[in-house]
Amino acid sequence: MHSDLDRILVPGRDIEAKVAELGWKISRDYAGKQLLTVGILKGSTIFMADLVRAISIPVSFDFMAVASYGLSSSSSGVVRILKDLDESIEGQDVLLIEDIVDTGLTLNYLLETLRTRNPASLRVCVLLDKPNRRRVEVPIDYPGFVIPDEFVVGYGLDYGGRYRNLPDVWVLKPEVYGKKNSEFRIQNSE
Ligand code: PRP
Ligand code: MN
Ligand code: MG
Repeated sequence: MHSDLDRILVPGRDIEAKVAELGWKISRDYAGKQLLTVGILKGSTIFMADLVRAISIPVSFDFMAVASYGLSSSSSGVVRILKDLDESIEGQDVLLIEDIVDTGLTLNYLLETLRTRNPASLRVCVLLDKPNRRRVEVPIDYPGFVIPDEFVVGYGLDYGGRYRNLPDVWVLKPEVYGKKNSEFRIQNSE
C-alpha cells in the first residue's frame, strides 16, 4: 500500500509529545491574551488541528493558501496568494503555523506580507525544520523537530497530494522522487 515509503522519521507519539509541549509554551507566553492562529494550506492543517487543542488560551483560526511562481517552485522566492485571510489582523496577536520550513521562501514572504498589516505581534510555530535547505533566514519562535535533508511525507505533508493523512512523518524512498546531487527534482510537488 505504501510502497513509496522508506521509514518512519518522526513517530506519531513523538509528535504528540512535541505538540503538547509547544501548546504549553504558547499558552504560557500568551497568557491573558487571545491568539489568532493562521494556518498555511494545506500542509499545516493536521498540525494546526492538534496544536490548537493543546493551547489553553482563547484561539481563533484563519487560513492562507499560497503558491510559488515559476517552474521550480522553490527557486524564485516569489509567492502568490491563492487565498488570503478572511479578517484583518491589525492589532491582533498572530501565530503563523507551518508544517515545514525548507528553503524558507514561503515563510519569509508570508512574514513580510503580514507584517505590513500591523498585527500586535507576529510569531511562527513550525513542526519540521530542514535547515540544510535554507535559502533565506526566517525566525522560528516555536520549533518542533530539526530534520535532515530528506523528502518527508505524512502528518499533513504530501508527495503529489498524497500521504497527508499518515499519523507519522515518513521518509519517501529516494527513487520515488529522483533525488539527484542532494537537490530535489520535484519540490513542493502538486
Ligand atoms: C510546503 C510546506 C511549506 C512550504 C515550505 O508547502 O507546507 O508551506 O512548502 O517550503 P519552503 O520553505 O521551501 O518555501 P507546499 O507548497 O508543498 O504546499 P502544501 O502545503 O499544500 O503541500
Ligand atoms: Mn505548505
Ligand atoms: Mg506540498
